[in-house]
This record gives sequence, structure tokens and C-alpha cells, in this order.
Amino acid sequence: MSSRREFLKTTLVVASGVAIARSAPTVASSHNTLPAGLIYTAGNPGMWAKKVGGHAPQVSIEGDKATITTKHSMSEKHYIVRHTLVAADGTVISAKTFYPSDEDPISSHQLPAGAKGKFFATSFCNKHDFWVTEFNI
Ligand SMILES: [Fe+2]
Repeated sequence: MSSRREFLKTTLVVASGVAIARSAPTVASSHNTLPAGLIYTAGNPGMWAKKVGGHAPQVSIEGDKATITTKHSMSEKHYIVRHTLVAADGTVISAKTFYPSDEDPISSHQLPAGAKGKFFATSFCNKHDFWVTEFNI
């Protein structure tokens, strides 16, 4: 009887450990579990498949500067709200907020010293949601 009780205790402890591990994903992997319709990319544009060219941010690197461009017009009713440059660990390196009166949604960002590896550029349209482009330096 005692060994059966020990078996049950062990089974419950192991089962609860698995449940905790599954319910607490790491921040780094949480984007893999987000539902469709929150973040759009050129390769995964969801309902905005016809909007990729004007919404997926494009990135160019020159020296220690990253330039993020969204090929999107700017008007009072429809415009790009914000760009961010984000490191692979989620650190926001730099951000630029736009106003409808701004000419073009282009932003320049200082890269951290020795920047290398994976980064993300984001662009948010007030009508067509949140877009991300992953790139490597
Ligand atoms: Fe848009």
C-alpha cells in the first residue's frame, strides 16, 4: 500500500511539473505561440496578403546605422504610426513615432556597438496592423 501511495505522489509531482513547464513559455519563444492575426510578416501576411509591399518594413544597414523604410503613403486617415528596432532578446534599441503630416515613414536607428546577429524591424499602420521584418547583421 505504501509503495502505491509513493507511486501516486511521484506521478502527481511529475505531472504538475509538466503542466507548469507547458504553461510558462519563455519570452523568447512566446512569438511562436501567438495566434494568427496579431503580427504580420512578408512571408505570413494573413488577411493582408495584398498589402505586403506597402507594409512589411524594409531595412538597410550602412555602417553603424539601420534605416527602416515602409513604402506607405502618409495622410490624415491612413498612415504609419511607428517603427521600432528590436534586438533578438526583445530589447527595444530605438523607436520613431510618426504623425500623419510626416513626409515618408523612414527612420534611422543607431546600432549598438558591435551589433551582430538577429534583429527585428517593426512597422505599425493605423489600418493594416503590426508588421515585422527579421534581419541579420
Ligand atoms: Fe496601411
